[in-house]
Amino acid sequence: MAKTLIIGSNGQIGTDLLNELRLIYGNEQILASDIREPENFDHNFVHLDATDSKAVKQVLIDHQIEEVYLMAAILSANAEKMPTKAWDINMQVLFNVLELAKEGYIKKLFWPSSIAVFGPHTPRIDTPQYTIMDPNTVYGISKLAGERWIEYYREHYDVDVRSVRYPGIISWKTMPGGGTTDYAVEIFHEALTKGHYTSFLAANTRLPMMYMPDAIRATIKIMEADKNQLRIHNSYNIAGISFTPQELAQSIQNYIPDFSIDYQPDFRQAIAESWPESIDDRMAFKDWHWHHQYDLETMVKDMLMHLSEKYHKEAGFIF
Ligand SMILES: NC(=O)c1ccc[n+]([C@@H]2O[C@H](COP(=O)([O-])OP(=O)(O)OC[C@H]3O[C@@H](n4cnc5c(N)ncnc54)[C@H](O)[C@@H]3O)[C@@H](O)[C@H]2O)c1
Repeated sequence: MAKTLIIGSNGQIGTDLLNELRLIYGNEQILASDIREPENFDHNFVHLDATDSKAVKQVLIDHQIEEVYLMAAILSANAEKMPTKAWDINMQVLFNVLELAKEGYIKKLFWPSSIAVFGPHTPRIDTPQYTIMDPNTVYGISKLAGERWIEYYREHYDVDVRSVRYPGIISWKTMPGGGTTDYAVEIFHEALTKGHYTSFLAANTRLPMMYMPDAIRATIKIMEADKNQLRIHNSYNIAGISFTPQELAQSIQNYIPDFSIDYQPDFRQAIAESWPESIDDRMAFKDWHWHHQYDLETMVKDMLMHLSEKYHKEAGFIF
């Protein structure tokens, strides 16, 4: 196993990815890095600002890194609050690693795209791999530009870069980092601690989502796939579960009958309405046999089980 670097390892996805990669390949093989210090001391962590190309290069050389997972980014809702800064950061961190890969310092690179690459004129149901893409958020524009650039580096410089368009990711270990689908994580915490949640998306806003174990499996699976099997050189659609805030609340009420929800849509509603409701991921299935495992029911049960433990709640009433 080549030595691997995760950039943005303290984030929502980076945290789970780090755990899983270390379980599979061993602690010493996986170097964690982030611009923020980790909550718990990690002897295999380096502080790294990924906008600093020289610093990234030095880490690659010092630790003899061959593979990189680039998870650092400014997410959709936060990016709308600081458009030009978000654009600069999201593009700069990507160009830094693409250039280093082109120069031979990285053998294999993972960079995630997002369903945010789609826009208001994209067909919203079973959104195809190839379709109209007119994102109207800074985040979506940066992800679509990133997709075009990774394909360019693959085709012109043979850089081995792999990518999936993550849907909204649901997880219990780390809180999400300022995205439009964050409601689907917050709702569990508030259901358990307050018995009530005020959703910032409207009741019937259907969005594509995915439970973290599926997202991590997809990420590692595409990195382990034979390069020649991957016919798409920008980013693969991957699908998980599509549901609305109301459907998620009803599913939580199966376990916590007194849980209540109300809806006060804010600026994130407009972002959500420009995104697909569901995703067609047949290309990912054909090329690298991708299929998600968690549905709404199994995801809700697993989330409540882990978070009940985390909050030291009496889990007996749930299961
Ligand atoms: N979470 C989702 O629902 C979702 C959905 C689609 C795509 N994605 C993409 O997946 C990737 C990871 O997302 P996430 O949810 O874990 O994000 P996050 O915001 O939770 O984590 C990002 C991490 O990157 C770090 N970071 C920010 N700027 C940095 C810099 N200059 N140098 C080094 N580290 C820096 C942050 O400190 C943070 O720990 C991002 O590219 C994101 O766009 C996430």
